[in-house]
Amino acid sequence: TAQERLRSFCIIAHIDHGKSTLADRMLQATGVVQPRDMRAQYLDRMDIERERGITIKSQAVRMPWAVTGADGTAATYALNMIDTPGHVDFSYEVSRSLAACEGAVLLVDAAQGIQAQTLANLYLAIEGDLAIIPVLNKIDLPAAEPQRHAEEIASLIGCDTDDVLQVSGKTGQGVPELLDRIVEAVPPPSGVPDAPARAMIFDSVYDTYRGVVTYVRVVDGALRPRERIEMLSTGAVHDLLEIGVISPEPVPTQGLGPGEVGYLITGVKDVRQSKVGDTVTSALRPATEPLAGYQEPRPMVFSGLFPVDGSDFPALREALDKLKLNDAALTYEPETSVALGFGFRCGYLGLLHLEIIRERLEREFGLDIISTAPSVVYEVTTEDGTTHTVTNPSEFPEGRIAGVREPVVRATILTPSEYVGTVMELCQARRGAMSGMDYLSETRVEMHYTLPLAEIVFDFFDALKSRTRGYASLDYEPDGSQQADLVKVDILLNGDRVDAFSAIVHKEAAYSYGVMMTRRLKELIPRQQFEVPVQAAVGSRVISRETIRALRKDMLAKCYGGDVTRKRKLLEKQKEGKKRMKAIGRVDVPQEAFVAALGAD
Ligand code: GTP
Repeated sequence: TAQERLRSFCIIAHIDHGKSTLADRMLQATGVVQPRDMRAQYLDRMDIERERGITIKSQAVRMPWAVTGADGTAATYALNMIDTPGHVDFSYEVSRSLAACEGAVLLVDAAQGIQAQTLANLYLAIEGDLAIIPVLNKIDLPAAEPQRHAEEIASLIGCDTDDVLQVSGKTGQGVPELLDRIVEAVPPPSGVPDAPARAMIFDSVYDTYRGVVTYVRVVDGALRPRERIEMLSTGAVHDLLEIGVISPEPVPTQGLGPGEVGYLITGVKDVRQSKVGDTVTSALRPATEPLAGYQEPRPMVFSGLFPVDGSDFPALREALDKLKLNDAALTYEPETSVALGFGFRCGYLGLLHLEIIRERLEREFGLDIISTAPSVVYEVTTEDGTTHTVTNPSEFPEGRIAGVREPVVRATILTPSEYVGTVMELCQARRGAMSGMDYLSETRVEMHYTLPLAEIVFDFFDALKSRTRGYASLDYEPDGSQQADLVKVDILLNGDRVDAFSAIVHKEAAYSYGVMMTRRLKELIPRQQFEVPVQAAVGSRVISRETIRALRKDMLAKCYGGDVTRKRKLLEKQKEGKKRMKAIGRVDVPQEAFVAALGAD
């Protein structure tokens, strides 16, 4: 039956280990993309994905593959390839893809060996009982060391080194053998064909022309075109206008059976009606038990987004509404800042997520925006015993604080053994506590740390890479919170607080943050008619100060008093300039100065 000839697999790989290139070769080898239609990274739809070379949204493609059995009879199988993103920020998407598969191709660069992120995903796949197919990629590279890395992988997953396949996504070598192995090693889906339909939503995207497109994997039963479907969590009922598979463009079919992956179109306009993790069933013969859902992605990092031009505020709201349709993890609510005007406080999965949202706002919506320093979520307890959740430093409670808790992560760092000392130093400087260390082989070490999330989200990854010449890799997952010595640093201009510059930092880092910001603002803010102190303060205690000296000459004095029109022009010009000024107390600050101060590294 169709179910017995179905194989669903995903590819677990580190960024740049060649997953997209291998996927391209598979599309070609199976003939679903004709050579003349081929373009690099066929499955990465978004422009940003292609430019940055990262995969963000999970995709599912179906490919036919003919295999000749031992008895000489040929049979054609349907292979479902479920794409997974490689970056930490998007690991919640990975767990979704794993849940939709019976097998995982563990793809490792033969020159670099396995990386922390891959290892974490591999453990997830093993826990999920997936069949693991170990593959070394890029064996065409002169620097490839297939033997060494095959041993590493074999000892990790407990197989024979000969079982580790060797391929090159670049030349296509080994790809047909890999497809054969998938058919052989991955079990068919085990759903019950005549049970009431149950399908898991693993993605839903908004398409301008077709409305919401929902990606599902059918577990039991079947869904057919034109039938009425029900969302189990809400009981909402929709008509199924179209159902099909992606191969690699959408192809309508006569339905989806157990184990099949495809898309549904119901004409719904709001993705929130098609919630990821929900179970779809048939309205006529509904299932009663929902499938086990996914964990909701939770925003971990917050920052303010403000239009540089205040009149763009409605456009920014509209753009965020649109982005939200395809991105359940993005959150936002209106925020007002004295320095920056009207904007939104946004929540993200991590810094890469933040950057991608910002870039899409600028590129796809033509908005000029400024974002404030990212912050994690703090739990602040005041002396009267109430606890406040603080995602915005300017909301840090005034007065006496009994304690502050900050989120921590459990981090896994994989590094060549010669960098163990360097990595320890870095983690210590970032307030990390080591919880263990394992040697994967003589030359590769897996280190475990508990680290404050706030210390990781900014430049930790870059610091780790540059100190280990790019060899160490990092993975982390949330691990609760801890009490910490944190304070809020305020920046004052002539005694008035500039809200956008407040930051919550560790006590020991308060001074350096204060000095950096006051120096920066002194450089950027033009002189006024009077002397302006720029101060950094913790509570009422000033920890650093710079002074912007008063302006000496009257600008109009330049005009010799004679030429009236010139004088008027100059005044007009000044007025024009004023419009873009923000008044902080008595001090006029050009918006650009704030933008520059927040933008600088
Ligand atoms: P993400 O989408 O970011 O996870 O990256 P990826 O794993 O999909 O990597 P991608 O396919 O974009 O390949 C990364 C780089 O490795 C590209 O420059 C490819 O050209 C190169 N590459 C991929 N496969 C091979 C291979 O078999 N041999 C060689 N020499 N280079 C390869």
